[in-house]
Amino acid sequence: MNDLFSPIGLGNLTLPNRMVMAPLTRNRAAMPGNVPQAMNVSYYAQRASAGLIISEAAQVSPEGVGYPGTPGIHSQEQVQGWRAVNDTLHAKGGRMFVQLWYCGRISHPDLLPDGQQPVSASAITPAGDAITFEGMKAFVEPRALRTDELPGIVEQYRQAAQCAVEAGFDGVEIHSANGYLLDQFLRDGTNLRDDRYGGSLENRSRLLVEVLSAVLEIWEPAQVGVRISPENSFNDIRDSDPQGTFNFVAKALSGKGLGYLHVVEGEMMSGERSVDYRQIRDNFDSYYMANCSYDKACAQSTIARGDADMVSFGQLFLANPDLVQRFKTNAELNVPDPDTFYGGDKKGYTDYPTLA
Ligand code: PHB
Repeated sequence: MNDLFSPIGLGNLTLPNRMVMAPLTRNRAAMPGNVPQAMNVSYYAQRASAGLIISEAAQVSPEGVGYPGTPGIHSQEQVQGWRAVNDTLHAKGGRMFVQLWYCGRISHPDLLPDGQQPVSASAITPAGDAITFEGMKAFVEPRALRTDELPGIVEQYRQAAQCAVEAGFDGVEIHSANGYLLDQFLRDGTNLRDDRYGGSLENRSRLLVEVLSAVLEIWEPAQVGVRISPENSFNDIRDSDPQGTFNFVAKALSGKGLGYLHVVEGEMMSGERSVDYRQIRDNFDSYYMANCSYDKACAQSTIARGDADMVSFGQLFLANPDLVQRFKTNAELNVPDPDTFYGGDKKGYTDYPTLA
């Protein structure tokens, strides 16, 4: 029977265990330029015993940014920065996929080149505030992308996937979750388009499928994952039928030999769940990576039941660089400090103690 500590093959990789470090935005890239720097090298290297690390979300272009201090994966400086992260991680025996990100309406003109208006599937303003260099500012109305602009967005993902090769990553994860651009197209609360990217499920999934095809021009399919979050309302997003929409998405992503589908299960803040995730798993033809508030016992039983092949842990890996060792030995866990999640220096970043 599989358990959290049994190895699993992923294309040309063998993950030594099924404990994945989930993508975590930490806002500690060097500014200007959004370039990975020395403290980022240490942070990821400390967590090398994870079966797989998914990097913090990395914008595919300057237009894709949505927060201060998040790293990009589009410039030569960023490629060099990530190269240093990956070289050190690999020397410590680890593996990492980069998460490809385009924020869309979850951004602000202050963060975008030439003060541009953020873009989205439709011109629907999210409730809430953007985090800018001058603090919180109300989200503005985004501009609906024209149909003829979408090939350019797809091309940005293709170029970022190429940068990911040059940066020495082991694979890429397409971020199609949590209310960012691809999710803004998938869910019917934010997509009111009447072109071939709106309306039917096939149309709402089209941008994701086209982005995936572009990434597959660069990467072997088993080295590519996709992340979705069917009923997460984070970033003011919703769908009238999350089960139907994401059953369809899971099927649309099948037949391509992908590495995995990474699923944020339930509502991130409240923990509520109404979707039957087994249906999503059954509609997808490769590995299922479960996420959202799993602890060791729950992860073990989920894998033992066959309801997931891997489980990703966010805050637990954030606070416990040696989480694999701690789970193996039932050791006590460090407690994450929310005050140091976003931005700052090494405090709350590279100073969580290991058992040793
Ligand atoms: C965040 O910055 O809080 C954040 C970023 C990406 C996510 C989720 C949350 O997918």
